[in-house]
Amino acid sequence: MIEFYADGFFKASKELTEVQDAVEEFFSVGVSEILSRGIPDGRGVKEMTYSVEGDKLNIKVRTDNYLRAHDVFLRLRKHLSKVLGRHRIGIRGIEFNEYWIKTESNVPISIKLPFIVKSEWKDGYFMVWLTLTEQDVEKKIPDRIVRLIDEKKKAEEYGGKAENWELIWQSGKKKIHFNKDPTQELLKMRWIKHGASRGQWIYGPQITKIFRAFETIVINEILEPLGYVEMVFPKLVPWDVWKRSGHAKGVYPEIYYVCTPKSRDPHFWEDVIDYYKVTLDVPVDLIKEKIEPPIGGMCYAQCPPFWVFLQGETIADSSLPIRVFDRSGTSHRYESGGIHGIERVDEFHRIEIVWIGYPEQVVEEANKLHERYHHIFEDILELEWRKAWVTPWFMAQEGLAGLSEDIRVGTTDYEAYLPYKNGWLEFQNVSVNGDKYPKGFSVKSQSGDMLWSGCSGVGLERWASAFLAQKGFNPENWPERFVEIVGNLPEGIKFL
Ligand code: SER
Ligand code: ZN
Repeated sequence: MIEFYADGFFKASKELTEVQDAVEEFFSVGVSEILSRGIPDGRGVKEMTYSVEGDKLNIKVRTDNYLRAHDVFLRLRKHLSKVLGRHRIGIRGIEFNEYWIKTESNVPISIKLPFIVKSEWKDGYFMVWLTLTEQDVEKKIPDRIVRLIDEKKKAEEYGGKAENWELIWQSGKKKIHFNKDPTQELLKMRWIKHGASRGQWIYGPQITKIFRAFETIVINEILEPLGYVEMVFPKLVPWDVWKRSGHAKGVYPEIYYVCTPKSRDPHFWEDVIDYYKVTLDVPVDLIKEKIEPPIGGMCYAQCPPFWVFLQGETIADSSLPIRVFDRSGTSHRYESGGIHGIERVDEFHRIEIVWIGYPEQVVEEANKLHERYHHIFEDILELEWRKAWVTPWFMAQEGLAGLSEDIRVGTTDYEAYLPYKNGWLEFQNVSVNGDKYPKGFSVKSQSGDMLWSGCSGVGLERWASAFLAQKGFNPENWPERFVEIVGNLPEGIKFL
């Protein structure tokens, strides 16, 4: 059950008292037909009163979900203009004195918006009072608030339940040669050092060679045989991309934000420069005043900014399925605080694999990737690993829980066993993303049929964490095929 109430008025260009009769006729004859058009019997308006007061036509209306109170005003506006037009009276606008939405809810809902005057949760009902302008109503603000309340209600009800996680496949036990935390070993051996920034590492020559060996495996075993071609995706992501990808709905707590200077004139920056030279402190508060609000953030999910390449285009059938990958830069997430090893970082390195086609093509491509990954983890890296069906990454990053409605759409997480933790680490994924991206970026097919896409992220830090945690650092314990690929590790830098 949901109820809408609006108390508002049409402001006319002249006094309405002279046309009282015409208004009365409109309400007694025309209105019920206008307000019941397309609405099932007994639904829509529950109660409505009107009154004329100077140049205002006041209306108080209470409705259900079939015709929302604000839509009553929009429906009446058109017809009322005609009626009043005959008397050379125009409608200047609609204003609201009071507006509320009342909906059943067994859970409290917290919602913060400039439109909300007050909210209340009582006796199984949640009520919000809004201040709305005519433009807000035209922009469907109240309708989106209803949707938001619904989402929050679901999230709140879902809250207690565990995340979606369903085991699909699990490997046999593998030979485990190690039971320590690989990050601690890496630090001891000085193969890595903390970067100057939070959750950032500097990878020395030895581990870098291991990363490159992983890349070689991915290229030789997956990308080349399956026909993927390399591209370079942007690494700074403006809001428009995240609006289209859905990230604008939820990613805020994890973004590394990017701002531009208000001016690139050196004089504008002179006080900052002088201050630094004299104090050797960077005056960050002063800088804050001299930069624009964020234009977006640094690469987060890696595939979204690629889509601008296809945005608004119609793809030739002969190009389908499109198969591309990017390994041109870092991804950044403001992770939760505390000390994490290389398996959980703010700056990470990933090969992002993206494919696009008709739905069957996209599903088939995902299956091929699964087969190739299976071969790599079983026969080359000899890992102990498993696969789980989880909430699609693009839903999770929008702040949603659950699964997609289409059972073919979703994310498979690959997890590796970490002996030192006696736990599992998600080290990569494969996803069928459905029509989410072609739709969001208006990409069409030659035939006009729906396009789908998929993506798969290979996290190099995660692969290294999984491999080193199970196999340790002695190459004698490494699988032969991997040793052949990685070759001899370089000498590191010696510190005295
Ligand atoms: N874009 C996907 C993700 O962020 C795969 O890397 O999980
Ligand atoms: Zn992706």
